Amino acid sequence: MFPPRLARYKPTQLRAVSRPAPATAAEQQKRLVGLLPIMASPTTCLKDHASRCGFVRPLLQLLVAAAAAAVLLPSVHGVASAGEQKISSIFLFGDSIVDPGNNNNRFTEAKANFPPYGRDFPGGVATGRFSNGLVPGDLLASKLGIKELLPPFLSDDLELKDLLSGVAFACGGSGYDPLTSKLATTLSSTDQLELFNDYKKKLTALVGEEEMTRVISEGVFLTVMGANDIVNNYFTLPLRRHEYDLPSYVDFLVSSAINFTKSLNDMGAKRIGFVGVPPLGCCPSQITLAGSPSRQCEPLRNEASELFNSRISTEIERLNAERSAFGSTIVYFDIYYNLLDLIQNPALYGFKEVSEGCCGSTVLNAAIFIAYHSACPNAIDYIFWDGFHPTQKAYNIVVDKLIQQNMKYLM
Ligand SMILES: *[C@@H]1O[C@H](CO)[C@@H](O)[C@H](O)[C@H]1NC(C)=O
Repeated sequence: MFPPRLARYKPTQLRAVSRPAPATAAEQQKRLVGLLPIMASPTTCLKDHASRCGFVRPLLQLLVAAAAAAVLLPSVHGVASAGEQKISSIFLFGDSIVDPGNNNNRFTEAKANFPPYGRDFPGGVATGRFSNGLVPGDLLASKLGIKELLPPFLSDDLELKDLLSGVAFACGGSGYDPLTSKLATTLSSTDQLELFNDYKKKLTALVGEEEMTRVISEGVFLTVMGANDIVNNYFTLPLRRHEYDLPSYVDFLVSSAINFTKSLNDMGAKRIGFVGVPPLGCCPSQITLAGSPSRQCEPLRNEASELFNSRISTEIERLNAERSAFGSTIVYFDIYYNLLDLIQNPALYGFKEVSEGCCGSTVLNAAIFIAYHSACPNAIDYIFWDGFHPTQKAYNIVVDKLIQQNMKYLM
């Protein structure tokens, strides 16, 4: 999710773990972007995801499955309306925190579909999830009784029942600032809304517009972005820092995030949870880059995270007040203090290591660090799996807290 602070990295250091030095400035920029850990993912998916990302075959499968829909739908509908408190589908937008593998079929260094990722996933397979096991979408879906795993929308083998119960549109490296994804050649938040539009069209073709509208309006939507904007784009790359000081960049991000949330609502999502950013200065990679020798959390990145969260939560409240009259609920979810609690009270939760990742604490992207580091044997002791992403155990605790604190507002 978050990349190196280039100001502290000499080009030669980058080169040592990368490829031969490029000749042109354009190549250089490309290469630097390639080094951004969880960010990169190419434009191929954006430009022609229909063919690239395997939607031709799946669509045929879906059409075949459509016949089954007539049989399936009444029962699905029955379950959904039987208990009013039941959430029947979940949809995620965001970055690598909630990307279950949308980057897999793309040319990018920001993948996690190889070991040791997935070491503790069912079957021990690396699916593209950026952790040792399940990621927040899976945990939410299973804890809410929807399904065991939340698949990536760009998966090869989605069936109708997957579409009906929810998917993730999140892509590693994404952010609310369009420049964040451009620099990382990944899908922007707006591109993810395009995918959502594709989803709506596909579901409409299979079950009709009325049923599609029902699924969307009853679904729970979460958006989890902003970390790449702050850590990669603002702190690492100089472009935004030349344009904005931190408070005005945060204002810009908040405006962009609110516009995203409004668009999502305008597209039919009525129950939206807006998840803030984690304490970014506590990520092992950021401590390595900019923190103290004692490996305390880096304060500036944490201040930036708090500033974003404080402003966006106010704006989300305002937006909710505006839109609740039209039957929408838009709620802010805190992840900052929920994760910080684990970091500050590790023993309480059975953790022994808070500032190092089980796979190391570098900012190097997954493919490179895998070549140079191996995972620790005792991930259970760690809050972080790599330099950026929590372990399944940490996610599990945080997701429990989120459900406990916030989910009632979206039911
Ligand atoms: C958000 O939308 C408003 C209204 O369309 C626009 O004026 C503003 O520039 C947008 N903000 C960003 C950051 O794009």
